[in-house]
Amino acid sequence: MNNQETNHIYPIFDRMLGRADKEELLKQHGLMIWFTGLSGSGKSTIAIALERELQQRGLLCRILDGDNIRSGINNNLGFSAEDRVENIRRIAEVGKLFVDTGIITLAAFISPNNEIREMAAGIIGKEDFLEIYVSTPLEECERRDVKGLYAKARRGEIKNFTGISAPFEAPAHPALSLDTSKLSLKESVDQLLDLILPKVIKK
Ligand code: PPS
Repeated sequence: MNNQETNHIYPIFDRMLGRADKEELLKQHGLMIWFTGLSGSGKSTIAIALERELQQRGLLCRILDGDNIRSGINNNLGFSAEDRVENIRRIAEVGKLFVDTGIITLAAFISPNNEIREMAAGIIGKEDFLEIYVSTPLEECERRDVKGLYAKARRGEIKNFTGISAPFEAPAHPALSLDTSKLSLKESVDQLLDLILPKVIKK
């Protein structure tokens, strides 16, 4: 069969399917839920629990966190100020692809200052960007020290460690603040569901 014959039975479309087509298929709206906070504050734990709750309600999510990003696409980046910017820039670009596919995207990264978070919001689009501050205090994160990194940072074995030897700037106007030293995981997830469900369920 030559090309002409193929085109006769199979139409050529002039555009890729767009976000609205995907959202119609999924019956949901794409959204970026951007968790910022110190190492060990509970960002990924909350994202994982929230993803389960959303999935149970028939909503498709994708988590982006250190485990799937810093080990892969960003495995050439460290923790200098420049590398953190590039880390977040690439995450935002990847996240935008998910959001544009109608997927509820949960990004859990320290993203340590306003400039870096504003860059992410600018790439994704402010209307699709919900900033969640996991505001667990440094003392509590350090007490937990799940990965033993705070102890190493205190001993000077890790340079530029956020909260110890590198700055963390709290967001001024997050959509929600969650202090996991005061809230149970369920309380945090319930607050998030109240905020998110009206934005993502397609009527
Ligand atoms: S950033 O600032 O947004 O680029 O950082 P992020 O990609 O979220 O990576 C943070 C996780 O990397 C581990 N780690 C460090 N964090 C901060 N500072 C330094 N120097 C560092 N070195 C390694 C740390 O375990 C962070 O894990 P989380 O999941 O946040 O606890």
